[in-house]
Amino acid sequence: MRISSIRKLNFRPVSALAAAGSLLLLAGCHTDMWFQPKVHKSLQESDFFADGASARKLVPGTVVHKATEGELRVDNTTYTALGTDKKLVDQLPAEIPLNVETLRRGRERFNIYCSPCHGRSGDGKGMIAMRGLALRKAPGNYLSESIRKQPLGHYYDVISNGFGVMYSYAARIEPADRWKIAAYIRVLQAANGIPLKDISEEEKAKLEGNPEEPKAAAGEGEGK
Ligand code: HEC
Repeated sequence: MRISSIRKLNFRPVSALAAAGSLLLLAGCHTDMWFQPKVHKSLQESDFFADGASARKLVPGTVVHKATEGELRVDNTTYTALGTDKKLVDQLPAEIPLNVETLRRGRERFNIYCSPCHGRSGDGKGMIAMRGLALRKAPGNYLSESIRKQPLGHYYDVISNGFGVMYSYAARIEPADRWKIAAYIRVLQAANGIPLKDISEEEKAKLEGNPEEPKAAAGEGEGK
């Protein structure tokens, strides 16, 4: 007992001194912390490894660890629009139900992001294409035979990755909304392919109003 209490007495002043000393040392030598012999930016070059790259290649056979359900996007049809055969799919993924809500959302997003160039009916005659920005190529006409026969996944893919001179909308449109826009493009195509004689009088009467706005609000837009 006595020995240990003496030790304690002896140790305290010594460790306090050491702590103060190391604080002083640290304060004096902080540039060492600023200039560290480490890689500061990812994929920075380095003379440490023979291949001149700081980043090491993945070990062959490395698999992604799926930490959270839904986090792994590389192999997932919902995010790539590719089926197991690596071809673009022609249907909505199971997570996106085909219902009025989906189509309403698709129409809303389409009118915001796509109609300025592609036009509200999808005929490629949006305001920008007609008289604004000089596009190097005319925007695609969704009603054309060639675009009509594309699988649904193609529209998702064009929104995600761009197409020719059209740039990608991936940063602005969430994957779920891309599918909803794709579904709405099909609605536009279907609506434009129906001969007038096949539309019932009742449907024609409905079309007299503005389908975009509820009846009460329709009057507001008339003066514009
Ligand atoms: C700034 C104008 C602009 C906007 C906005 C725009 N596009 Fe395009 N889009 C184009 C142009 C231009 C092309 C033709 C590109 C080419 O052929 O090089 C095109 C082509 C396409 C095509 C046809 C691809 C094919 O198979 O020929 C699709 C589908 C398409 N766009 C979908 C969309 C969707 C969906 C949106 C909204 C999310 C959108 N675009 C927004 C300009 C635009």
